[in-house]
Amino acid sequence: MSDENQVELEARLEEQEVFEPSEEFVAQANVSDPDIYEEFEENWPQSWERAAEMIDWDESYDEVLDDSNPPFYKWFTGGKLNASYNCVDRHVENGDKNRVAIKWEGEHGETRTYTYQDLYREVNEFAAALRAQGVEEDDVVTLYMPMVPELPIAMLACARIGAPHSVVFAGFSAEALATRMNSADSRCLVTCDGYYRRGDALDHLDKANEGLDGVDHGVDSVVVVDRLGEDGFDHELRGNQHDWDDLMAEHAGERVEPVERDAEDMLFLMYTSGTTGQPKGVKHTTGGYLSYAAWTSHAVLDIEKEDTYWCSADIGWITGHSYIVYGPLALGTTTVMYEGTPDFPNRDRLWDIIEKYAVDIFYTAPTAIRAFMKWGSRFPEQHDLSSLRLLGTVGEPINPRAWKWYYKHIGNEECPVVDTWWQTETGGMMVTTLPGVCDMKPGSAGPPLPGIDAQIVDTTGAEVDAGRAGYLTVNKPWPGMLRTLYKNDERFVQEYWQEYSDVNSDDSDDWVYFPEDGAKVDDDGYITVLGRVDDVINVSGHRLGTMEIESAIVGVEGVAEAAVVGANHELKGEAVYAYVITEDGAEGGEELRGRIIEGVEDAIGPIARPEEVVFTPELPKTRSGKIMRRLLEDVANGEELGNTSTLRNPEIVDTIARQVEQQRN
Ligand code: WTA
Repeated sequence: MSDENQVELEARLEEQEVFEPSEEFVAQANVSDPDIYEEFEENWPQSWERAAEMIDWDESYDEVLDDSNPPFYKWFTGGKLNASYNCVDRHVENGDKNRVAIKWEGEHGETRTYTYQDLYREVNEFAAALRAQGVEEDDVVTLYMPMVPELPIAMLACARIGAPHSVVFAGFSAEALATRMNSADSRCLVTCDGYYRRGDALDHLDKANEGLDGVDHGVDSVVVVDRLGEDGFDHELRGNQHDWDDLMAEHAGERVEPVERDAEDMLFLMYTSGTTGQPKGVKHTTGGYLSYAAWTSHAVLDIEKEDTYWCSADIGWITGHSYIVYGPLALGTTTVMYEGTPDFPNRDRLWDIIEKYAVDIFYTAPTAIRAFMKWGSRFPEQHDLSSLRLLGTVGEPINPRAWKWYYKHIGNEECPVVDTWWQTETGGMMVTTLPGVCDMKPGSAGPPLPGIDAQIVDTTGAEVDAGRAGYLTVNKPWPGMLRTLYKNDERFVQEYWQEYSDVNSDDSDDWVYFPEDGAKVDDDGYITVLGRVDDVINVSGHRLGTMEIESAIVGVEGVAEAAVVGANHELKGEAVYAYVITEDGAEGGEELRGRIIEGVEDAIGPIARPEEVVFTPELPKTRSGKIMRRLLEDVANGEELGNTSTLRNPEIVDTIARQVEQQRN
C-alpha cells in the first residue's frame, strides 16, 4: 500500500465514529441478544439470578436482594458457597482437571503452567499451611506479593478457609504495608524475597521487613516465597518467618475442605485511595462479588473455558482480583500472568506473549496503549496476533486516537474493543458495551450494563441533558458492590451515598451511589467518563489520593505546607505536581526536592513520585482559606488561568506560573 493510501485510510478511520462488531464475533458471542437490557429492567432485581447462576452454591439463596436497610444492601442472602471451590474444585470435578488454569511467564522468559489439578493441589496445601500457622476463619491475611503464581494460590487458599485476604500492591512502600496491616489488624503476612523488573532483581523482603517493623500489633506468622533463588539477597528469615516451599513440603498431599461461607461473608478487603489521607478498606463479599466477577467476565470479556485469556494488570489492584483471578478462574478458563514490564527485553514483549500462547482475549490499560502507540506499530507488526478475538481497556478514559490505534494495530479491525468503566468499589464492570450486542464509539465507554441504573446528574441531582457534563451516579444497587468500608460504616455512607441520597430514608429508591466521577451522556445513552471530581488522581491507571501525597510531603523536614494536583501527561494520563512552601521561607533547592521525592516514595511508593516539585512562597487561597486547586492544575497544564478574583492573594498565581515555566526550560 502506498503511503498516500495509508494516510487516506487513516483519515477515514478518524472520521468514522461508530464501529460495529463483526458478524463472526456476534455469532459466537456469549451474549448477543439485545433484549437482555429490557429483560434486566423488567425483571429487576430477579434478573441478577443470571449472575448467581454462573457459580455453584452449596446452599441456594432465599432472596436475591435484601434492600431493607439501605445502603447496607445484601445479595443472595441465605446462600452458601466457597470461592476457592468455584474457581478450582468444580473444574477438576467437571472433567477439566488437565486444562491449564494459570500460564505464568517470568520476566526472564521462564514459564510455569498450572493445570486445574495443579492449582487444586497447591491451593489445598497452602490452605493447610495457613491453618497450621494459626489462621482461622475471618482472620485477615495480608498478601504483599509481586506477580508470581503463589499470589493467586495464596488468595484462593485464604478463600478456601474463609480468611479474607488483603492484597497490598508490591510497588507500595513499607509504610503503606504497615498502614494497611494496622488498619485490618492483620496478623499473618505472605510475601516474597524479590522479583525482576527490567532485568534487575529487586529486594522485596527488605521492604516487607521494614513494613513489619511498623506494625503496631503482634504478627504471628510470615510466609516468604523464594522467587529469586540464587539472585536472592541473603536475608536471614526471622523467628516467625517461614519459607513457602518448606511449608508446602510439610503439608504435601494434605486436603482442606472448602469452608462453607455465607453469601454475605467477606471474601477480601482492598485498600484504595480517597479524599482523606487514610486509605479506605473496601469490603467485598463472597456471593455477590464472585457472581458479579464471573458474570461480567462471561458477558463483557466473552470468556469461554477454551480460551486463553490475558489481563496485563497487576493482581495488587482490583482489576487483577476480578479479571485475572476470580472471574476467569470461576469460568474455568486459562488465565495468563506476566511478571514484568512490557519493554523488557524489547518493546514487543506483550505481542510476543500473545503470539506464543495464542491469546484470544486481551485486557489492558489506556496508559499502556499510549506507550505502545508512541513506540510505534512496528513492534506489534513483528508478531502474529491473529489469535485475538476481543480487546478491552480499563482504568482511565481512553482518547479516541489511542482507541483506534488499539483497534487497528492490535485487533486488526476485527476485534471489538470494550472500554470498561468501573472501580475498586464496584467490584466489576459497570459501564461498557456488550461486545456481541453494541456498536462501539471510541472514547465513550458505552451504556450502563444490563441491570445497572446509571445517570448523569447536576449538583442538585437532576438529570442533565444529553451532551452536557455532569456527575455519574448509580441509582440501584448491584451484586458486586462494596458492602462497607472495613469497620467504618459511617465513612462508607459519607463517602459514597451522602451526596445524592436522602440519608434518612429506609426506601431503597432514595439512595444513590456516587462514584466521584464526572461524565456526559449522548442521545443514544452512551456514557463518556471524564475523570475524577474528588481529590483523587489517576497516574498510569493507578489511583492516588492527593491528601496522602500531601501528608507525606508535609512530613519532610523543612516543608511547611504542600498542595498536590494532577496535571495532564501524555503517557501517564495524569502526573503528580507538588507545590511546596518551605519553613521560614527558606530556599527550596535540589537537596530538599530530593528529600521530598524520597518522602513520597517512602510513604506510598515510586508510583506516587512527583513529576514536578514547585517551591512557592504562598499557595493561592480563597478568602476563607481554601486552596484553589483548580488554579494550580491550570498552571501545571500551562493553560489559561481561570478566574482569580475570589483569591485573597491573586498575584501569587503568576509567580507560580513563572516558576513552573522556568523549571520546564
Ligand atoms: C477511573 C479501576 C474512564 C475512574 C478498575 C474510576 C475510568 C477510577 C475507566 C477507579 C474507564 C476506571 N474510563 N475512567 N473505562 N475505568 N476509570 O478503583 O475515575 O483503581 O473512578 O478501579 O478509575 O479506579 P480503581
